[in-house]
Amino acid sequence: MPELLSMSRRRFAQLLGAGAAVAVARPSLSRPLFGDRGLSSTAATAVVRLNSNENPYGPSPAALKAMTDVFSLAWRYPDEHADQLIQTLARMNGVDQKQVLLGDGSGEILKLCAAAFTGPMSAGNGAVPLARPTRGGSLTFMPGRGKMIVADPTFEAILNHARVAGAEVVKVPLTKSFSHDLPKMGAAAMEGLIYICNPNNPTASITPKNEVREFIDRVPRQTMILVDEAYFHYADSPDYESMIPMIKEHPNLIVARTFSKIYGMAGLRCGYCVAQPETIQRLRPQQVWDSVNIMALAAANASLNDPDQVTNGRRLNSETKRFVTGKLEAMGFGHIPSQANFMMIDVKRPVRPLIDALNQRGVQVGRAFPTLANHMRVTIGKQAEMEIFLSAFRQVVSGGV
Ligand SMILES: Cc1ncc(COP(=O)(O)O)c(C=O)c1O
Repeated sequence: MPELLSMSRRRFAQLLGAGAAVAVARPSLSRPLFGDRGLSSTAATAVVRLNSNENPYGPSPAALKAMTDVFSLAWRYPDEHADQLIQTLARMNGVDQKQVLLGDGSGEILKLCAAAFTGPMSAGNGAVPLARPTRGGSLTFMPGRGKMIVADPTFEAILNHARVAGAEVVKVPLTKSFSHDLPKMGAAAMEGLIYICNPNNPTASITPKNEVREFIDRVPRQTMILVDEAYFHYADSPDYESMIPMIKEHPNLIVARTFSKIYGMAGLRCGYCVAQPETIQRLRPQQVWDSVNIMALAAANASLNDPDQVTNGRRLNSETKRFVTGKLEAMGFGHIPSQANFMMIDVKRPVRPLIDALNQRGVQVGRAFPTLANHMRVTIGKQAEMEIFLSAFRQVVSGGV
Protein backbone atom coordinates (compact mmCIF):
# COMPACT_ATOMS: atom_id res chain seq x y z
CA MET A 1 0.00 0.00 0.00
CA PRO A 2 1.43 3.45 -0.82
CA GLU A 3 2.83 5.10 2.28
CA LEU A 4 0.60 8.16 2.05
CA LEU A 5 -2.54 6.05 1.89
CA SER A 6 -1.52 3.81 4.76
CA MET A 7 -0.66 6.82 6.92
CA SER A 8 -3.98 8.43 6.19
CA ARG A 9 -5.97 5.33 7.03
CA ARG A 10 -4.08 4.77 10.26
CA ARG A 11 -4.60 8.40 11.12
CA PHE A 12 -8.30 8.14 10.38
CA ALA A 13 -8.63 5.04 12.52
CA GLN A 14 -6.86 6.79 15.41
CA LEU A 15 -8.97 9.87 15.03
CA LEU A 16 -12.21 7.97 14.87
CA GLY A 17 -11.17 5.93 17.90
CA ALA A 18 -10.38 9.07 19.84
CA GLY A 19 -13.62 10.84 18.90
CA ALA A 20 -14.46 13.59 16.49
CA ALA A 21 -13.25 16.47 18.63
CA VAL A 22 -9.61 15.37 18.54
CA ALA A 23 -7.11 17.95 17.28
CA VAL A 24 -5.24 17.08 14.10
CA ALA A 25 -1.58 17.98 13.83
CA ARG A 26 -0.17 19.34 10.57
CA PRO A 27 1.51 16.40 8.78
CA SER A 28 5.27 16.45 9.10
CA LEU A 29 6.75 18.37 6.20
CA SER A 30 9.83 16.15 6.21
CA ARG A 31 7.91 12.88 5.95
CA PRO A 32 8.73 11.44 2.52
CA LEU A 33 5.63 10.99 0.42
CA PHE A 34 6.37 8.13 -1.86
CA GLY A 35 3.78 6.08 -3.68
CA ASP A 36 1.93 5.81 -6.90
CA ARG A 37 -1.52 4.80 -7.99
CA GLY A 38 -1.56 1.64 -9.99
CA LEU A 39 1.64 0.21 -8.55
CA SER A 40 1.73 -2.84 -6.33
CA SER A 41 2.11 -2.06 -2.65
CA THR A 42 5.72 -3.23 -2.50
CA ALA A 43 6.82 -1.38 -5.64
CA ALA A 44 5.01 1.78 -4.61
CA THR A 45 7.12 2.51 -1.54
CA ALA A 46 10.25 2.90 -3.69
CA VAL A 47 8.78 5.44 -6.10
CA VAL A 48 9.31 9.19 -6.05
CA ARG A 49 6.28 10.56 -7.82
CA LEU A 50 6.90 13.82 -9.64
CA ASN A 51 4.60 13.23 -12.58
CA SER A 52 1.15 14.58 -11.67
CA ASN A 53 1.72 18.08 -10.24
CA GLU A 54 0.34 17.04 -6.88
CA ASN A 55 0.93 18.99 -3.68
CA PRO A 56 3.37 16.85 -1.65
CA TYR A 57 2.46 18.56 1.63
CA GLY A 58 -1.13 17.33 1.50
CA PRO A 59 -4.32 18.91 2.80
CA SER A 60 -4.69 21.36 5.66
CA PRO A 61 -4.88 19.80 9.14
CA ALA A 62 -8.23 21.58 9.39
CA ALA A 63 -9.39 19.63 6.31
CA LEU A 64 -8.31 16.32 7.86
CA LYS A 65 -10.22 17.16 11.02
CA ALA A 66 -13.29 18.26 9.08
CA MET A 67 -13.33 14.95 7.19
CA THR A 68 -13.10 13.05 10.45
CA ASP A 69 -15.97 15.07 11.88
CA VAL A 70 -18.15 14.48 8.82
CA PHE A 71 -17.49 10.74 8.63
CA SER A 72 -20.69 9.98 10.51
CA LEU A 73 -22.70 12.01 7.98
CA ALA A 74 -21.69 9.77 5.08
CA TRP A 75 -25.30 8.51 4.87
CA ARG A 76 -26.65 11.96 3.98
CA TYR A 77 -26.70 13.81 0.66
CA PRO A 78 -24.22 16.65 0.73
CA ASP A 79 -26.51 19.62 -0.02
CA GLU A 80 -25.79 21.69 3.10
CA HIS A 81 -22.05 21.23 2.71
CA ALA A 82 -22.24 22.17 -0.97
CA ASP A 83 -24.29 25.27 -0.15
CA GLN A 84 -21.81 26.31 2.51
CA LEU A 85 -18.87 25.95 0.12
CA ILE A 86 -20.67 27.88 -2.62
CA GLN A 87 -21.45 30.63 -0.12
CA THR A 88 -17.81 30.91 0.96
CA LEU A 89 -16.45 30.79 -2.59
CA ALA A 90 -18.94 33.43 -3.73
CA ARG A 91 -17.92 35.71 -0.87
CA MET A 92 -14.18 35.15 -1.48
CA ASN A 93 -14.52 35.90 -5.18
CA GLY A 94 -16.93 38.82 -4.80
CA VAL A 95 -19.71 37.20 -6.84
CA ASP A 96 -23.26 35.99 -6.30
CA GLN A 97 -23.84 32.37 -5.23
CA LYS A 98 -25.65 31.79 -8.54
CA GLN A 99 -22.29 32.41 -10.22
CA VAL A 100 -20.48 29.43 -8.64
CA LEU A 101 -20.72 25.83 -9.82
CA LEU A 102 -18.92 23.06 -7.95
CA GLY A 103 -17.36 20.13 -9.80
CA ASP A 104 -15.94 16.70 -9.07
CA GLY A 105 -12.50 18.24 -9.49
CA SER A 106 -12.03 21.07 -11.97
CA GLY A 107 -11.71 18.25 -14.49
CA GLU A 108 -15.48 17.92 -14.31
CA ILE A 109 -15.88 21.65 -14.96
CA LEU A 110 -13.74 21.27 -18.10
CA LYS A 111 -15.91 18.39 -19.24
CA LEU A 112 -19.12 20.38 -18.64
CA CYS A 113 -17.75 23.30 -20.68
CA ALA A 114 -16.79 21.01 -23.55
CA ALA A 115 -20.21 19.34 -23.46
CA ALA A 116 -22.13 22.62 -23.32
CA PHE A 117 -20.09 24.76 -25.68
CA THR A 118 -18.43 22.58 -28.30
CA GLY A 119 -19.58 19.97 -30.74
CA PRO A 120 -21.06 19.65 -34.19
CA MET A 121 -22.77 22.67 -35.70
CA SER A 122 -26.45 21.97 -35.73
CA ALA A 123 -27.29 24.31 -38.60
CA GLY A 124 -25.21 22.44 -41.12
CA ASN A 125 -23.59 25.57 -42.46
CA GLY A 126 -21.68 26.39 -39.31
CA ALA A 127 -23.40 29.73 -39.01
CA VAL A 128 -25.45 29.28 -35.84
CA PRO A 129 -23.71 30.88 -32.85
CA LEU A 130 -23.68 29.20 -29.50
CA ALA A 131 -24.78 32.23 -27.56
CA ARG A 132 -26.09 35.59 -28.63
CA PRO A 133 -26.04 38.77 -26.56
CA THR A 134 -29.47 40.32 -26.09
CA ARG A 135 -30.00 44.06 -26.00
CA GLY A 136 -29.69 43.95 -22.20
CA GLY A 137 -26.24 42.39 -22.50
CA SER A 138 -27.19 38.91 -21.20
CA LEU A 139 -26.91 35.82 -23.35
CA THR A 140 -29.59 33.87 -25.14
CA PHE A 141 -28.24 30.43 -25.83
CA MET A 142 -28.74 29.04 -29.28
CA PRO A 143 -28.71 25.40 -30.23
CA GLY A 144 -25.64 25.60 -32.46
CA ARG A 145 -22.22 24.60 -31.21
CA GLY A 146 -18.70 25.18 -32.37
CA LYS A 147 -15.01 24.51 -32.28
CA MET A 148 -12.62 24.00 -29.42
CA ILE A 149 -9.52 26.21 -29.62
CA VAL A 150 -6.55 25.32 -27.42
CA ALA A 151 -2.86 26.13 -27.12
CA ASP A 152 -0.28 23.52 -28.06
CA PRO A 153 0.90 22.10 -25.75
CA THR A 154 -1.67 22.53 -22.99
CA PHE A 155 -3.63 20.45 -20.47
CA GLU A 156 -5.16 17.83 -22.67
CA ALA A 157 -8.20 16.56 -20.78
CA ILE A 158 -10.50 19.13 -22.34
CA LEU A 159 -9.41 18.14 -25.85
CA ASN A 160 -10.64 14.63 -25.23
CA HIS A 161 -13.95 15.86 -23.88
CA ALA A 162 -14.40 18.15 -26.88
CA ARG A 163 -13.64 15.29 -29.27
CA VAL A 164 -16.24 13.12 -27.55
CA ALA A 165 -18.70 16.01 -27.97
CA GLY A 166 -17.91 15.89 -31.68
CA ALA A 167 -16.06 19.21 -31.80
CA GLU A 168 -13.40 20.22 -34.22
CA VAL A 169 -10.29 20.80 -32.09
CA VAL A 170 -7.93 23.53 -33.29
CA LYS A 171 -4.45 23.66 -31.74
CA VAL A 172 -2.50 26.93 -31.82
CA PRO A 173 1.21 26.68 -30.89
CA LEU A 174 2.42 28.65 -27.88
CA THR A 175 4.53 31.72 -28.67
CA LYS A 176 8.33 31.72 -28.37
CA SER A 177 7.94 32.91 -24.77
CA PHE A 178 5.54 30.00 -24.08
CA SER A 179 2.46 32.17 -23.67
CA HIS A 180 -0.85 31.62 -25.49
CA ASP A 181 -0.87 33.11 -28.96
CA LEU A 182 -4.15 34.89 -28.30
CA PRO A 183 -4.49 36.76 -31.63
CA LYS A 184 -4.18 33.46 -33.52
CA MET A 185 -6.51 31.68 -31.10
CA GLY A 186 -9.10 34.44 -31.53
CA ALA A 187 -8.81 34.32 -35.30
CA ALA A 188 -9.42 30.57 -35.25
CA ALA A 189 -12.89 30.76 -33.70
CA MET A 190 -15.97 32.84 -34.29
CA GLU A 191 -18.00 30.49 -32.11
CA GLY A 192 -17.41 27.59 -29.74
CA LEU A 193 -14.95 27.56 -26.86
CA ILE A 194 -11.45 28.98 -26.38
CA TYR A 195 -9.47 27.35 -23.57
CA ILE A 196 -6.76 29.43 -21.88
CA CYS A 197 -4.72 27.53 -19.31
CA ASN A 198 -2.95 30.12 -17.16
CA PRO A 199 -0.45 29.17 -15.78
CA ASN A 200 -0.23 26.63 -18.56
CA ASN A 201 0.27 22.90 -18.04
CA PRO A 202 2.75 21.43 -19.13
CA THR A 203 4.98 24.51 -19.59
CA ALA A 204 4.29 26.23 -16.19
CA SER A 205 4.48 29.50 -18.14
CA ILE A 206 1.99 32.36 -17.93
CA THR A 207 0.21 34.47 -20.50
CA PRO A 208 0.55 38.10 -19.33
CA LYS A 209 -2.54 39.57 -17.65
CA ASN A 210 -2.79 42.55 -19.99
CA GLU A 211 -2.83 40.27 -23.04
CA VAL A 212 -5.53 38.05 -21.53
CA ARG A 213 -7.62 41.05 -20.46
CA GLU A 214 -7.44 42.72 -23.88
CA PHE A 215 -8.28 39.41 -25.53
CA ILE A 216 -11.36 38.85 -23.35
CA ASP A 217 -12.51 42.40 -24.15
CA ARG A 218 -12.08 41.80 -27.88
CA VAL A 219 -13.53 38.32 -28.38
CA PRO A 220 -17.08 38.38 -29.76
CA ARG A 221 -19.65 37.39 -27.17
CA GLN A 222 -20.82 34.34 -29.07
CA THR A 223 -17.42 32.76 -28.42
CA MET A 224 -17.06 31.29 -24.93
CA ILE A 225 -13.74 31.65 -23.09
CA LEU A 226 -12.67 29.23 -20.37
CA VAL A 227 -9.68 30.37 -18.30
CA ASP A 228 -8.27 27.47 -16.29
CA GLU A 229 -6.59 28.83 -13.14
CA ALA A 230 -5.70 25.47 -11.55
CA TYR A 231 -2.23 26.80 -10.62
CA PHE A 232 -3.36 30.34 -9.74
CA HIS A 233 -1.99 30.26 -6.17
CA TYR A 234 1.54 29.40 -7.24
CA ALA A 235 1.96 32.29 -9.69
CA ASP A 236 3.77 35.28 -8.18
CA SER A 237 4.72 37.24 -11.30
CA PRO A 238 3.48 40.87 -11.42
CA ASP A 239 2.38 39.97 -14.96
CA TYR A 240 -0.14 37.44 -13.67
CA GLU A 241 -3.67 38.01 -12.39
CA SER A 242 -6.92 36.09 -12.01
CA MET A 243 -9.58 36.86 -14.61
CA ILE A 244 -12.47 36.38 -12.15
CA PRO A 245 -13.06 40.18 -11.82
CA MET A 246 -13.72 40.33 -15.59
CA ILE A 247 -16.72 37.99 -15.33
CA LYS A 248 -18.94 40.91 -14.28
CA GLU A 249 -18.62 42.50 -17.73
CA HIS A 250 -18.27 39.34 -19.81
CA PRO A 251 -21.13 36.85 -20.09
CA ASN A 252 -18.94 34.60 -22.26
CA LEU A 253 -16.18 34.14 -19.62
CA ILE A 254 -15.80 31.14 -17.30
CA VAL A 255 -12.93 30.76 -14.81
CA ALA A 256 -12.12 27.30 -13.38
CA ARG A 257 -10.29 26.64 -10.10
CA THR A 258 -9.37 23.50 -8.20
CA PHE A 259 -8.75 22.21 -4.66
CA SER A 260 -6.29 19.65 -6.07
CA LYS A 261 -3.18 21.82 -6.13
CA ILE A 262 -2.41 24.37 -3.37
CA TYR A 263 -5.12 22.81 -1.16
CA GLY A 264 -3.55 19.35 -1.56
CA MET A 265 -6.85 17.54 -2.23
CA ALA A 266 -6.21 15.83 -5.60
CA GLY A 267 -7.49 12.49 -4.31
CA LEU A 268 -10.67 13.99 -2.86
CA ARG A 269 -11.94 15.63 -6.09
CA CYS A 270 -13.29 19.14 -5.74
CA GLY A 271 -13.15 22.09 -8.08
CA TYR A 272 -15.41 24.92 -9.18
CA CYS A 273 -16.00 27.59 -11.73
CA VAL A 274 -17.21 31.16 -11.65
CA ALA A 275 -19.28 32.69 -14.48
CA GLN A 276 -22.41 34.77 -14.99
CA PRO A 277 -25.61 33.05 -13.76
CA GLU A 278 -26.90 32.33 -17.32
CA THR A 279 -23.66 30.56 -18.17
CA ILE A 280 -23.81 28.48 -14.99
CA GLN A 281 -27.39 27.57 -15.92
CA ARG A 282 -26.10 26.34 -19.27
CA LEU A 283 -23.49 24.10 -17.61
CA ARG A 284 -25.66 22.68 -14.83
CA PRO A 285 -27.87 20.35 -16.93
CA GLN A 286 -24.72 18.57 -18.17
CA GLN A 287 -23.81 17.61 -14.60
CA VAL A 288 -24.62 14.66 -12.37
CA TRP A 289 -26.55 15.81 -9.29
CA ASP A 290 -24.45 16.02 -6.11
CA SER A 291 -21.26 15.25 -7.99
CA VAL A 292 -19.00 16.40 -5.15
CA ASN A 293 -18.94 14.09 -2.15
CA ILE A 294 -19.42 15.19 1.44
CA MET A 295 -15.81 14.44 2.52
CA ALA A 296 -14.39 16.62 -0.24
CA LEU A 297 -16.85 19.40 0.56
CA ALA A 298 -16.04 19.32 4.27
CA ALA A 299 -12.31 19.36 3.51
CA ALA A 300 -12.67 22.21 1.01
CA ASN A 301 -14.76 24.28 3.43
CA ALA A 302 -12.19 23.80 6.19
CA SER A 303 -9.22 24.50 3.88
CA LEU A 304 -10.57 27.92 3.01
CA ASN A 305 -10.58 28.77 6.71
CA ASP A 306 -6.92 27.82 7.16
CA PRO A 307 -4.87 30.92 6.43
CA ASP A 308 -1.60 28.93 6.49
CA GLN A 309 -2.44 26.42 3.75
CA VAL A 310 -1.91 28.77 0.82
CA THR A 311 0.98 30.79 2.25
CA ASN A 312 2.92 27.71 3.41
CA GLY A 313 2.29 25.82 0.19
CA ARG A 314 3.41 28.75 -1.90
CA ARG A 315 6.53 29.38 0.20
CA LEU A 316 7.63 25.73 0.32
CA ASN A 317 7.07 25.36 -3.41
CA SER A 318 9.11 28.43 -4.33
CA GLU A 319 11.95 27.58 -1.90
CA THR A 320 12.26 24.05 -3.26
CA LYS A 321 11.90 25.25 -6.85
CA ARG A 322 14.74 27.72 -6.27
CA PHE A 323 16.90 24.91 -4.85
CA VAL A 324 16.20 22.64 -7.84
CA THR A 325 16.74 25.29 -10.50
CA GLY A 326 20.05 26.31 -8.85
CA LYS A 327 21.30 22.73 -8.94
CA LEU A 328 20.13 22.21 -12.51
CA GLU A 329 21.75 25.43 -13.69
CA ALA A 330 25.01 24.34 -12.03
CA MET A 331 24.72 21.16 -14.11
CA GLY A 332 24.15 23.24 -17.26
CA PHE A 333 20.38 22.72 -17.66
CA GLY A 334 17.95 25.60 -18.13
CA HIS A 335 14.17 25.58 -17.82
CA ILE A 336 11.10 27.47 -18.94
CA PRO A 337 10.40 30.11 -16.23
CA SER A 338 7.93 28.40 -13.91
CA GLN A 339 4.89 30.02 -12.29
CA ALA A 340 3.50 26.75 -10.95
CA ASN A 341 4.35 23.73 -8.78
CA PHE A 342 6.16 22.04 -11.65
CA MET A 343 8.73 22.99 -14.24
CA MET A 344 9.83 22.16 -17.77
CA ILE A 345 13.54 21.41 -17.90
CA ASP A 346 15.39 21.75 -21.21
CA VAL A 347 17.24 18.44 -21.25
CA LYS A 348 18.91 19.25 -24.61
CA ARG A 349 18.21 15.80 -26.06
CA PRO A 350 15.12 13.64 -26.67
CA VAL A 351 13.43 13.29 -23.32
CA ARG A 352 11.80 9.90 -23.73
CA PRO A 353 14.89 7.76 -22.95
CA LEU A 354 15.58 9.95 -19.91
CA ILE A 355 12.03 9.43 -18.63
CA ASP A 356 12.47 5.67 -18.95
CA ALA A 357 15.90 5.72 -17.28
CA LEU A 358 14.57 7.77 -14.35
CA ASN A 359 11.59 5.46 -14.06
CA GLN A 360 13.95 2.49 -13.74
CA ARG A 361 15.58 4.33 -10.83
CA GLY A 362 12.19 4.79 -9.13
CA VAL A 363 11.69 8.43 -10.13
CA GLN A 364 8.52 9.20 -12.10
CA VAL A 365 8.45 12.44 -14.10
CA GLY A 366 5.92 13.81 -16.59
CA ARG A 367 5.37 12.12 -19.92
CA ALA A 368 6.92 13.34 -23.17
CA PHE A 369 5.13 16.16 -25.02
CA PRO A 370 5.68 15.83 -28.79
CA THR A 371 5.94 19.59 -29.44
CA LEU A 372 8.54 19.97 -26.68
CA ALA A 373 10.41 16.73 -27.27
CA ASN A 374 13.60 17.97 -25.50
CA HIS A 375 11.84 19.09 -22.33
CA MET A 376 11.04 17.17 -19.15
CA ARG A 377 8.10 18.11 -16.94
CA VAL A 378 8.94 17.64 -13.28
CA THR A 379 6.64 18.33 -10.31
CA ILE A 380 8.26 20.20 -7.43
CA GLY A 381 8.06 17.68 -4.59
CA LYS A 382 9.57 17.96 -1.14
CA GLN A 383 13.24 18.80 -0.73
CA ALA A 384 14.16 15.15 -0.01
CA GLU A 385 12.31 13.97 -3.12
CA MET A 386 14.02 16.60 -5.27
CA GLU A 387 17.41 15.53 -3.97
CA ILE A 388 16.63 11.96 -5.06
CA PHE A 389 15.47 13.30 -8.44
CA LEU A 390 18.61 15.41 -8.91
CA SER A 391 20.88 12.52 -8.02
CA ALA A 392 19.07 10.17 -10.46
CA PHE A 393 18.99 12.88 -13.15
CA ARG A 394 22.73 13.48 -12.75
CA GLN A 395 23.35 9.73 -13.12
CA VAL A 396 21.26 9.31 -16.26
CA VAL A 397 22.57 12.38 -18.09
CA SER A 398 26.19 11.63 -17.22
CA GLY A 399 25.62 7.99 -18.17
CA GLY A 400 25.01 9.11 -21.75
CA VAL A 401 21.25 8.50 -21.88
C1 LIG B 1 -4.37 22.87 -15.89
C2 LIG B 1 -5.17 21.84 -15.17
N1 LIG B 1 -6.50 21.97 -15.13
C3 LIG B 1 -7.26 21.07 -14.51
C4 LIG B 1 -6.70 19.98 -13.90
C5 LIG B 1 -7.62 18.98 -13.27
O1 LIG B 1 -7.58 19.11 -11.90
P1 LIG B 1 -8.65 18.46 -10.95
O2 LIG B 1 -9.65 17.73 -11.77
O3 LIG B 1 -7.89 17.56 -10.05
O4 LIG B 1 -9.26 19.62 -10.23
C6 LIG B 1 -5.32 19.79 -13.91
C7 LIG B 1 -4.72 18.60 -13.29
O5 LIG B 1 -3.54 18.40 -13.25
C8 LIG B 1 -4.53 20.75 -14.59
O6 LIG B 1 -3.21 20.63 -14.67
